[in-house]
Amino acid sequence: MNPLVLVNGSHACPEERPELLAVCAGSEVMLERQAALGLGALMEKVDGWRFITPVSGWRSFEEQEEIYRRSMAENGETFTRQYVARPGHSEHQTGLAIDLGLSGPALDFIRPNFPYEGVCQRFRTLAADFGFVERYPAGKEHLTGIAHEPWHFRYVGQAHARRMGELGLVLEEYLDWLNAGEGSAAWESGHI
Ligand code: DAL
Ligand code: ZN
Repeated sequence: MNPLVLVNGSHACPEERPELLAVCAGSEVMLERQAALGLGALMEKVDGWRFITPVSGWRSFEEQEEIYRRSMAENGETFTRQYVARPGHSEHQTGLAIDLGLSGPALDFIRPNFPYEGVCQRFRTLAADFGFVERYPAGKEHLTGIAHEPWHFRYVGQAHARRMGELGLVLEEYLDWLNAGEGSAAWESGHI
């Protein structure tokens, strides 16, 4: 799976099935191989497995369909459109996205708690060094089509994650930037 693949409301997930690995021993949550390795290294760095629960990683089309259907029934359309991608249009189907929650009772499946403090913030601060970006930040909802999701991290690889952080761009903007002259020049000269 191309780590820069764009999946959103107007770009469907490629058919290709990723090579999957469990995020940690004994977990049923899986990620694409590189993403799983990056997450494992980052979690080790912040001693994350003691405090952070992997809530949802790779999802099949059918799983996304079921989550969407159930959310529509239980939470309604406005909520669902904000927080659940349409089946076929979820980054989770690529295996490159993970939802994480601060471990505790009654962790919400769709909106797990992942605060901007403590171990979660240490994870966030180091995420780019291990290839992850916070995919749906506040203030970029008009570009991503999804509400602010502090718990959803997307693997793009270390170089791109760092550059996206420096530039303050979400994936939609970053791909435009890469395709524009400045981005292409930086890429070709090895500066990304
Ligand atoms: N929560 C994200 C948008 C998804 O369903 O893929
Ligand atoms: Zn997610």
